[in-house]
Amino acid sequence: MGVVGCGLMGSGIAEVCARAGYTTLVRELNDELLAKGRQRIEKSMSTAASRGKLSAAQQKEALGRLTGTTNLADFEACDLVIEAATENPEIKKRTFAELDQICPPHAILASNTSSIPVIQMATSTRRPAQVLGMHFMNPVPIMPLIEYVRTLTTSDETLNTAKQFGESLGKRIIVSKDRGGFIVNFLLIPYLTEAVRMLEQGFAAKEDIDVGMMLGTSYPMGPFTLLDFVGLDTTLFIADVLFDEFKESRFAAPTLLRQMVAAGYLGRKTGRGFYNYDAGETPPAR
Ligand code: CAA
Repeated sequence: MGVVGCGLMGSGIAEVCARAGYTTLVRELNDELLAKGRQRIEKSMSTAASRGKLSAAQQKEALGRLTGTTNLADFEACDLVIEAATENPEIKKRTFAELDQICPPHAILASNTSSIPVIQMATSTRRPAQVLGMHFMNPVPIMPLIEYVRTLTTSDETLNTAKQFGESLGKRIIVSKDRGGFIVNFLLIPYLTEAVRMLEQGFAAKEDIDVGMMLGTSYPMGPFTLLDFVGLDTTLFIADVLFDEFKESRFAAPTLLRQMVAAGYLGRKTGRGFYNYDAGETPPAR
């Protein structure tokens, strides 16, 4: 297994692969980022162990299956590579073209993109039948779903092999066509941006909207808590992709969201989003 990127998603993907028994190689741009990613994986495995999901021996074995590298050329023996790099089409296309040169002819190449058309990555390679989307959900070790994206060129064989692999990670697989938002974000992003519009229009307090959806519909988090968790920048990026593709006003990002991203209020990762964590504010609990 190869994983490109050891950020939030890449480290989660590498963790579940290593825990499922796969020898896993993770590529980052430098040693500092690799060390950060490894720390995140170790912390998550320790949490899993403390919750009784993993024994000490399994944790040690899983960590032993994980190796970091800064050189994509080390992926020369990978049967499957999952790319989880920055959501930038040019970087992704370049990475796929390089992987195509490096990996064995039988290897399957997958992208964890949440919104970029997978056909763009497929056609950057000479093996478009062996390329698909594998969209994991955050937090990867906990969320039981992977959303697969089948492009016009993905073969049945690739999809079937990828399904067996996903199930071996203990995940449920759903399959979407290669269109903006796939299944989950096509529904989730308008819901989140609609909540922002409600707040912008002074409809209700953010806490009441959050509690309404948590206790009224049993969502684990209300929309503002989830926005801060996913990242306001990520949400805005996907909303813009949806609007560009469908040109429908329901996908247009609200001004408040755009301005909060411009201000650097990106959510939990920057200490402030809709809730100001740095100032001690906490989202309402269930
Ligand atoms: N590894 C394995 N299991 C772990 C773990 C780890 N590192 N850490 C915790 N767990 C387990 C716990 O043991 C617990 O299991 P049980 O239910 O069997 O007891 C379970 O995970 C829940 O853990 P917690 O009690 O610590 O956490 P919680 O109940 O507060 O739930 C949450 C946390 C799972 C994040 C929950 O709040 C939630 O589901 N939130 C919504 C997340 C969501 O919607 N994610 C998708 C975002 S959209 C996306 O990702 C797509 C995109 O492109 C934007």
